Amino acid sequence: MNTIEKTDKYVFNTYGRIKKVFVKGEGSTLWDEDGKKYTDFLAGIAVCSLGHCHPAITETITRQASTLIHVSNLYYTQPQAELAKMLVENSFADRVFFANSGAEANEAAIKLARRYFNKEDGNKRYKIISMKQSFHGRTMATLTATGQDKIKYGFNPLLDGFIHIPFNDINALKEALDDTVCGVMMEPVQGEGGVVAANPQYLKSVRELCDKEGILLIFDEVQTGMGRCGHLFAHEIYDIKPDIMTLAKALANGLPMGAMLATEKAAQGFAVGSHATTFGGTPLVASVALTVLSIISKPQFLQECREKGQYFREKLNSLKHNHPVIKDVRGEGLLVGMELNSEAAPIVEKCLDKGFIINAIQGNTLRFAPPLIITKDEIDSLIEALSSIL
Ligand SMILES: Cc1ncc(COP(=O)(O)O)c(C=O)c1O
Repeated sequence: MNTIEKTDKYVFNTYGRIKKVFVKGEGSTLWDEDGKKYTDFLAGIAVCSLGHCHPAITETITRQASTLIHVSNLYYTQPQAELAKMLVENSFADRVFFANSGAEANEAAIKLARRYFNKEDGNKRYKIISMKQSFHGRTMATLTATGQDKIKYGFNPLLDGFIHIPFNDINALKEALDDTVCGVMMEPVQGEGGVVAANPQYLKSVRELCDKEGILLIFDEVQTGMGRCGHLFAHEIYDIKPDIMTLAKALANGLPMGAMLATEKAAQGFAVGSHATTFGGTPLVASVALTVLSIISKPQFLQECREKGQYFREKLNSLKHNHPVIKDVRGEGLLVGMELNSEAAPIVEKCLDKGFIINAIQGNTLRFAPPLIITKDEIDSLIEALSSIL
């Protein structure tokens, strides 16, 4: 049996996989088992932001793996302390909880929002408002928070206390708010939902309404954080701050890590024993995330992400003229979506044939989330391929 046959026989069939086996990566390039080369415009779904096998990441993994990998959160470890300090110093937050995935980081955020009020008002405020078309993960709480029916199918009964409202509609939020709501949870730029950014005025009003009600604003930056949108965190584009933010994906460039960041005030919702995870913030992943953060947080690096993102969108927009199948080009930084008037999956397949890895979401939208180290030349090559395919 080959790799595909073994996977299909022995692994749960929960993924609709493309029949390709990848064996090696370097920078923005991947190789399949036949030796064919691909330029990666997906980065493991916005994860390998420094590209594949970045020398600094490989060096950090090797060094830390031969020093200390795991001891548990019964004790203190230096990389976790340093990483928390660096995340706090580079964000709105005062404290960090380390998890292992985006769903777990969001699960922690939901628990924190509930417990923050439950301590004080006897569980009156427990409802979370989230957005239609949002995606927050696959645990029971996070799939309940997610605003897409296909993610919830077959898992009833879902959790009590989640309300879904249309994104970018401030009146819908006003109507949904009452004294049972503890928080609003949203992606500043919806990723899985089709690369749809919040309107600046809308997000400002969301913050104001949360302040007025005294409830917590949670930004899910699992996909948009860590430089993906051209700023360390996407909410910086809007110049407003959440009370809680979640990160994962690119945080450790491919090693599993999630994090929930919160203000000191919101963090008071948890106490010793209220939340935990065995693997959270191990020395190995924390040291890798420190390396990632030290590279991505550099102003010059972020500036280049913004420039390349703009360049990429301009180039995609320039295709519109000759290809009316393109309906819309959108995104922030290097999280880019191109909505088509047709199915997106056949374009993904044809790109693969031409040596480019991209992705389809919501049926008709191409998503591009290349490593942030992608070059303009690599962008030009994709544009050329897309032009001939379209
Ligand atoms: C915005 C957002 N939140 C949460 C998640 C879930 O993260 P994970 O798959 O690491 O659990 C994702 C994954 O795509 C995401 O895009």
